[in-house]
Amino acid sequence: MATDAATAEMAAASLCDDLEPATTRTRIRDVLATGAARAGESVVVGGWVRTGREQGKGSFAFLELSDGSCAAALQVIVDAAVHPLARLTATGTSVLVEGVIKEPPQGTKQNIELKVSRVLEVGEVDAASYPLPKGKVKIPLETLRDVVHLRSRTNTIGAVARIRHQLAFATHSFFHENGFLYVHTPIITTSDCEGAGEMFQVTTLFSQAEKTEKELKENPAPSESDVTAAKVLAQEKGAAVAQLKGAKAGKQDIDAAVAELKKAKDNVARLEERSKLKPGIPLRDDGTVAFENDFFKRQAFLTVSGQLQVETYACALSSVYTFGPTFRAENSHTSRHLAEFWMVEPEIAFANLQDDMNCAEKYVQYLCKWLLDHCREDMEFMVKNYDKSAIERLELVSSTPFVRISYTKAVELLMNVTAKKFENPVEWGIDLASEHERYLTEEIFKKPVIVYNYPKGIKAFYMRLNDDQKTVAAMDVLVPKVGELIGGSQREERFDVLKQRILDAGLPLEPYEWYLDLRRFGSVKHSGFGLGFERMILFATGMENIRDVIPFPRYPGRADL
Ligand code: 4AD
Ligand code: MG
Repeated sequence: MATDAATAEMAAASLCDDLEPATTRTRIRDVLATGAARAGESVVVGGWVRTGREQGKGSFAFLELSDGSCAAALQVIVDAAVHPLARLTATGTSVLVEGVIKEPPQGTKQNIELKVSRVLEVGEVDAASYPLPKGKVKIPLETLRDVVHLRSRTNTIGAVARIRHQLAFATHSFFHENGFLYVHTPIITTSDCEGAGEMFQVTTLFSQAEKTEKELKENPAPSESDVTAAKVLAQEKGAAVAQLKGAKAGKQDIDAAVAELKKAKDNVARLEERSKLKPGIPLRDDGTVAFENDFFKRQAFLTVSGQLQVETYACALSSVYTFGPTFRAENSHTSRHLAEFWMVEPEIAFANLQDDMNCAEKYVQYLCKWLLDHCREDMEFMVKNYDKSAIERLELVSSTPFVRISYTKAVELLMNVTAKKFENPVEWGIDLASEHERYLTEEIFKKPVIVYNYPKGIKAFYMRLNDDQKTVAAMDVLVPKVGELIGGSQREERFDVLKQRILDAGLPLEPYEWYLDLRRFGSVKHSGFGLGFERMILFATGMENIRDVIPFPRYPGRADL
């Protein structure tokens, strides 16, 4: 972390006389942390005004300044003699100011304040048209989604951003400490990992078609007779060259004729190419879309999971993980689903289902402990404003072993529930709905539950078939508030079984041949899982809607910015 001295040194080392001097700003977090010990010191701080009010009949103003480095704001005092106060006090105004750290008068709630000596920069706000409310007025999170480009200035979205950052950092820290390599798997893919057909397609066919249509309007395609005429001309030019050569004409004349012939031939090629241009999406003879004309010369999609690709690295480097955006074109309008979400996916060679569960449990506990150690202030904000039990939940989860029960046992327990009537009836073979998952973790066990060995019919083709031939070595981690946080499995490592499972799922073999190769050559027992990163943030913060814990939510009907 750069101290003021280090920042000043850095600035001095890179002095360029022809440029504006570098900015030596102290973060508000650091000013507040050192507290009264730095009273009398002069610092430069920058931020956005949360609330501003003129006092003493307009002789000075208090500004609550926030720069996102922490939840708390710094109280800043500006005298009217230093700057016109009306230009500083509107919520949202940005300022860069130099001032002296002061201990406030006894009895005020701040432990420190800043008395401004110079206003260096201001980004003014017209309070009447600023979309966010003034100061501490609460605005529903739902309304904030309509101003996604400004909502990061609110306390809530700021706190979520810091928590999200800490969870991402903790993720890398956990896997790094445990010997995993971070692998960047592709976002554009040609294989459907979950085999569920919920993929967004990546294509340039539409923009190509639009371009062609426009171009044909301006410059219509040549007719057949245009092409024939150009061919005749090229033949004539060819004959002229032959005649000159036969007559042993001078080199200069022959060269000139050859150049003309080349021009005529190029023209034929160009006209032939353009005569093929047709408006609309290219189709094959049987009426299907000719994807061989698309950018990748085949169909391509946004990935639903990096798992299949990361398996190739696990089957070489043993412990790996990927962490990136994933996309699902499912028409879900729930508070737990996004069309674009981030997933953390470890994959471990020489690991079975129990190893997988152990890793998932250790990882989730590590994340909870990390937030308790690194994010107290923001977690306290969550407790105060969103969920009284958020911190207790982190404490409980970081210190209690997760319950582990088979799917069969879970179904038995749910079938015996009389205290509640489920909307979706429970019987062996069903995909557990959110209401069942939450009942298990919130009511029956009151802690995280790992359910394992699901019926093969409801799970993806890559999960290892158990000896009973009815279930697969799958596991889901269910947590209070959220339901399913993690989905994972031991992978099918037997070539013949995997091939049959792909076919049974009604999937074509061709796109999965490379995946089958991992079983043809040096196959190895291996397991992995995927943690929904936004669901982890919901679980940690107690926030209700997944659209508020990702900076730019994408869901059916909405993709702002
Ligand atoms: O259970 P899922 O579909 O598992 C996979 O994609 C595996 N390929 C992962 C693996 O084994 N490497 O998704 C994993 C997790 C879910 O448990 C859930 O937390 C989250 O991803 N998730 C979603 N989060 C937000 N919006 C959606 N539409 C989600 N779908 C899944
Ligand atoms: Mg799942």
